Amino acid sequence: MLSSLSILPILVFLFLLVLAYDLIRRSYHRTSPGRLRLPPGSMGWPYIGETLKLFTENPNSFFSNREKRYGKIFKTHILGCPCVMISSPKLAKMVLVSESHMFKPTYPLSKEKMIGPEAVFFHQGPYHTHLKKLIQSSFLPSKIKGSVSQIEDIVLRLLPTWEHNHTINTLPEMKKYAFEVAMLSVFGKKLESEIEGIKGLYQCLEKGYNSMPLDLPATPFNKAMKARKALHEKLRRVIEKRRESGETGEGLLGTFMLSNEVEGKMKLSESQIADNIIGVIFAAHDTTATALTWLLKYLHDNPHLLHAVKREQEEIRCKRLEAKRRITWDDTRRMPLTTRVIQETLRAASILSFTYREAVEDVEMEGYLIPKGWKVLPLFRSIHYSSHFFPNPNKFDPSRFEVAPQPNTYMPFGNGAHSCPGSELAKLEMLIFVHHLTTTFRWEVIGEEGIQYGPFPVPRDGLPIKVYPVKKD
Ligand code: HEM
Repeated sequence: MLSSLSILPILVFLFLLVLAYDLIRRSYHRTSPGRLRLPPGSMGWPYIGETLKLFTENPNSFFSNREKRYGKIFKTHILGCPCVMISSPKLAKMVLVSESHMFKPTYPLSKEKMIGPEAVFFHQGPYHTHLKKLIQSSFLPSKIKGSVSQIEDIVLRLLPTWEHNHTINTLPEMKKYAFEVAMLSVFGKKLESEIEGIKGLYQCLEKGYNSMPLDLPATPFNKAMKARKALHEKLRRVIEKRRESGETGEGLLGTFMLSNEVEGKMKLSESQIADNIIGVIFAAHDTTATALTWLLKYLHDNPHLLHAVKREQEEIRCKRLEAKRRITWDDTRRMPLTTRVIQETLRAASILSFTYREAVEDVEMEGYLIPKGWKVLPLFRSIHYSSHFFPNPNKFDPSRFEVAPQPNTYMPFGNGAHSCPGSELAKLEMLIFVHHLTTTFRWEVIGEEGIQYGPFPVPRDGLPIKVYPVKKD
């Protein structure tokens, strides 16, 4: 009796174990009434799944190896979540555009807490639509046209610092530039007093964003959460000051505040405004800096192209000097080759290799089941490297953009309701930079070849270069 009692807990434990295993198995292999199967693929190791492989391997080979083995839709397990990756334009369009109501945006909770839970990225429905319209209206070509000379001022402050510094590290320099442009866009011109201290706090936030989400004293995550609080408070005071002065002011902040004064429109709270200001700076800064860093690398590696871009920019420079004027919006519209080089950079670098959505219900796709709660990742990079849509995809070839890409095949700025509202600003920023860079300096890449992920793929060590001022007439 005693011995049968002593094995009872073991039997109960074994029973629970089998039950738990069965539940987990069922959640992974659930079939809908139509008995759909899950997509093919490997879920990797327990819990870590294929996370390490995804973030350490060359993303091109991670995706293409699986695509070759399983096809355009396959399952995997990333950051503790079961995922389905998709790499066809048709399926990406389904998730991001035509059936987007079945897939909600999703981010790890730690990232949401850090940027601010009320930021545009994390929402759907009327709140998202309202915010998106306001952000888009602030970044329309008609609006950013007026910022050309201020953006040029930022370039003209940055480039002369290179003259005393033959060796520079490209990525941090590009981050300085993109950060200043982002600040200009959100606060407008009269910003000096407003933005004091924001940069330091922001840098702390960024370090924590890319660290382990461990909220213990003195961890980068913990410091970042503190910086976030201070940033929030700073923004609250800026809003208060603007309100007291009776002026809503310029930039995206001005757009938000002005919209709050319009009768009958949805009102944004201070914390909603702060989350979205932090969010936009975040979205604008690292992405554009990474794109510019790749642009310098690609131009350096393709001397004939660099030569042609220089010629295009020299022509504009000569016209400017003749007319004794600075660069204008119209100049930036007359840079066809440089524009194609930027398009090709965005394809080849695919800064956001993919995005995340989550199925809000069981969804059937290509005869497979995507269970409710699973993440769905449209793979922009795989589509950009498909030889079907971009022949010879490993070649850096801007001439491919002499013809418009097929619909839904070129998505450096995403697609659908959550696509990037800052695409025109990012391109303008790059055009103005390339104009002054190529007419002022030549550069030589030093250091080793390779790619680093932090979190976007960037040239190894941030691309150290040696710069040499070019002789001017
Ligand atoms: C080369 C630079 C940039 C790249 C490659 C890029 C890429 C993207 C992509 C792919 C998305 C869609 C993400 C998704 O669907 O989940 C996105 C969204 C977004 N981007 Fe950009 N972006 C860049 C620059 C900017 C700039 C300069 C701004 C400043 C306004 C900006 C603001 C945003 C915002 C606010 C969203 C979220 C939109 C929403 O959720 O509705 N981005 N970006």
